Amino acid sequence: MSTKLDTIVKYAHRNGFIFPSSEIYGGYSSVYDFGPLGKLLKDNLVQAWRDYMVTFRDDVVEIEGAIFLHPKVWEASGHIGGFADLLVEDTVTNKRYRADHLIEDAGIMDNADSLSLEETDKVIADNKILSPDGNPLTKAKQFNLLVQTHLGATIDDSTVAYLKGEACQNIYVNWKLVQETSRRKLPFGIAQLGKAFRNEITVKQYIFRTREFEQIDLQFFVKPGEEDKWYEFWKDYRYKFYTEYLGYNTEHIKFRQHEKLVFYAKDAWDIDYEFGAVGFKELEGLHNRTDYDTKQHSEFSGKDLRYRDPETNEQYFPYVIETSLGVNRLLLSSLFEFYNEEAIAGSEESRIVLKFPYHIAPYKIAILPLMKKDGLADSAKEIYMNLRKKGILADMDMAGSIGKRYRRQDEIGTPWCVTVDYETLSEGTVTIRHRDTMEQLRIDIEDIESYLNNETFGEF
Ligand code: GAP
Repeated sequence: MSTKLDTIVKYAHRNGFIFPSSEIYGGYSSVYDFGPLGKLLKDNLVQAWRDYMVTFRDDVVEIEGAIFLHPKVWEASGHIGGFADLLVEDTVTNKRYRADHLIEDAGIMDNADSLSLEETDKVIADNKILSPDGNPLTKAKQFNLLVQTHLGATIDDSTVAYLKGEACQNIYVNWKLVQETSRRKLPFGIAQLGKAFRNEITVKQYIFRTREFEQIDLQFFVKPGEEDKWYEFWKDYRYKFYTEYLGYNTEHIKFRQHEKLVFYAKDAWDIDYEFGAVGFKELEGLHNRTDYDTKQHSEFSGKDLRYRDPETNEQYFPYVIETSLGVNRLLLSSLFEFYNEEAIAGSEESRIVLKFPYHIAPYKIAILPLMKKDGLADSAKEIYMNLRKKGILADMDMAGSIGKRYRRQDEIGTPWCVTVDYETLSEGTVTIRHRDTMEQLRIDIEDIESYLNNETFGEF
């Protein structure tokens, strides 16, 4: 049975992964905070992306750009003119809705954002779609998603600033500086983790669509004419990130080509993920952005952003292949992917277990002293601190029966538990238990580390 969104929401709250922002004030406008386990999981997922996209490759460098960019960036990028969703208004309550969401919710079609303004009006009229309050709707109009603010001591047109509508604009603006200072030749890529802000008309489905989020992007710069080959390469590489590097079930991942293209793209595909009972939804976007961005910024800044081929001296604007993934959606997909409720063989009990692979599990190991007394807690603390000092994130839990503590660690996806007992004091050994098989083994304290990142669980 598919996991329901509500199950994940409660799970993530109960275990300190995700809280509504300013919850004591009733939450705020679809903004969320990450608690201790959410923060660990998020960092591990971002690190997995960084390893796969940057560290394991010799053709990608990473940068970190500021949130504020010169307002002209957003003019050049096309966001001031064209970064909009279609909005309709309830003619009685004046509440505003995204037109494509109402069409989708009415079951008329999926991906209604591919419709033009005229088509949207026609579908709403033909199907007599009303607002959620049952009232007629206005005609659709464009609604710009950029979040505006003012920087400086006066508030007028001259101080208007925008928060980033998409994180990647720093990369295009800096691309030549990066290429020259890191002495790169095409093809090569620039990766970045960055905040993005969108004044989304409707925010729904938890952290899936928020007004503030992080994107992890790769912009891969190639010679014109080579873009199709590289586009195919990156589609395949990103698919393997999910199915091989994170271990997602291949049945939960599929590609979908956009029918209507965003203003900067020549071709666009989404990687959709099956978010349990919610169904398939966009997880990541892959775009062939052509030379749109490098050309636009060259024109608007007056700076020559063309690449000079060192062998031929030929000059041209590079084409860009983009892979762009929202960190919230990655985290949410990982909760759906690894959440399991299962019966425990040979008992009446069941357990919730998160079967995270080792590299993304928030805690790698938990140290559980059988008792607090007789020096067991001290011995456990020593093992725990020794692991943490080596950079292995261990948890220590002393409350309740060992069975209860195993359940707690299963529920947060800790791959290994170590129990410290009287034999630990006399023999220097511990019991190590694996989360998925629940099998246990007696080993020397010194051997604990050799078990940790053991995907085959050889000895068991
Ligand atoms: N630079 C390209 C770009 O921004 P996008 O398809 O608009 O393309 C890329 O966004 C990814 O960012 C999406 O696939 C999704 O994972 C994430 N994303 C977009 N809007 C979001 C929102 N409102 N809340 C959370 N994540 C979002």
